[in-house]
Amino acid sequence: LESSNRGRRILTVPVAKSLLSVLKGERQAVSPIWLMRQAGRYLPEYRALRETKGGFLALATDPDAAAEVTLQPIRRFGFDGAILFSDILMVPWALGQDLTFGVGEGPRLTPPLIDHALGALDRVPERLEPVYQTVTRVAGALPPETTFLGFAGSPWTVATYMVAGQGSKDQGETRSYAYQDPIAFGAIIDAIVELTIDYLARQIEAGVEAVQLFDSWAGSLSPAQFERWVIAPNAAIVAGVKERCPGAVVIGFPKGAGAKLPAYARETGVDAVGLDETVDPRWANDVLPTGMPVQGNLDPLALLAGGQALDEGIDRVLAAFVDRPHVFNLGHGIGQHTPIAHVEALIARVRG
Ligand code: CP3
Repeated sequence: LESSNRGRRILTVPVAKSLLSVLKGERQAVSPIWLMRQAGRYLPEYRALRETKGGFLALATDPDAAAEVTLQPIRRFGFDGAILFSDILMVPWALGQDLTFGVGEGPRLTPPLIDHALGALDRVPERLEPVYQTVTRVAGALPPETTFLGFAGSPWTVATYMVAGQGSKDQGETRSYAYQDPIAFGAIIDAIVELTIDYLARQIEAGVEAVQLFDSWAGSLSPAQFERWVIAPNAAIVAGVKERCPGAVVIGFPKGAGAKLPAYARETGVDAVGLDETVDPRWANDVLPTGMPVQGNLDPLALLAGGQALDEGIDRVLAAFVDRPHVFNLGHGIGQHTPIAHVEALIARVRG
């Protein structure tokens, strides 16, 4: 690792699997750190490799290339966690929708389920095989102190893409659909739950040490709908994964959940919760169950800005969680225009 670190040195004494130990409830004096979307377009080595592959899906389905992308931010920065390079939309692809990532636009899933029955799609579970091969390769190549994270999208968030066929501003089509035809919508959620349990269990069996459930659009639901489409399906996934893989460690990230966070933390069975940047870390520390590990929640735009905004943001997060197991992360994914030097400054300050 040292030799391929391109001359950059992160000066710390690594605590073995510090990230995993925090997720299991042990506080570390220095919060372990990784960043959502740490493998991505802000890295020149990512952009170079992506170009040779011709697109995101080609990259994500090539196990050698996807393993390389997963390792890039570990080599460069020595993060405490490596996150599998893949996407939450691999599950809809395996459920039979076509998936494309066009240049300059977001992902597209066809046909959209708003006017097409889920039952009419042919499932293609073998589309997920390259992901498990990527996991095997990364697990064999990571430094021993680094914790390897797998992930999947949570059913509500994944369903918003499946129903609308693309990203949507306020998930309006999907929220309406869920009210108008809760039986049909529930069948979509159930299909995602079932495949996601298998998908995460197979990631764990192939070598990831913890998994994160991304619920990026959890914030758009009313309280009753949040119970039904966020808490219940996430609880089903956590129970299913832990039944198949006893001791499995799960991080839940219900972005935008706000005041519904404590219920999410208590009722889903997740081991740790991720906080987005809109959550006051002191409030979270007060209302979350004692001893429950938290992850977050620096504003990605403070990292983009750097300087004083960055330093103050880091200190505020660290100060709030001095009595609780804490994983340092952003409140959402790192932006593609973030300077590398700001990421280096962040890591140096967190590690003191
Ligand atoms: O965090 C990581 O480094 C691991 C890889 C990862 C990606 N996507 C790679 C990716 C993870 C964990 C995701 C999760 C994901 N994907 C979410 C949940 C988290 C979030 O950001 O809210 C969502 C909603 C998606 C769906 C998705 N994938 C969108 C909307 C887009 C296009 C917009 C964008 O940011 O580019 C993607 C593409 C995608 N997934 C890229 C990466 C690195 C960019 C692809 C590229 O152009 O190279």
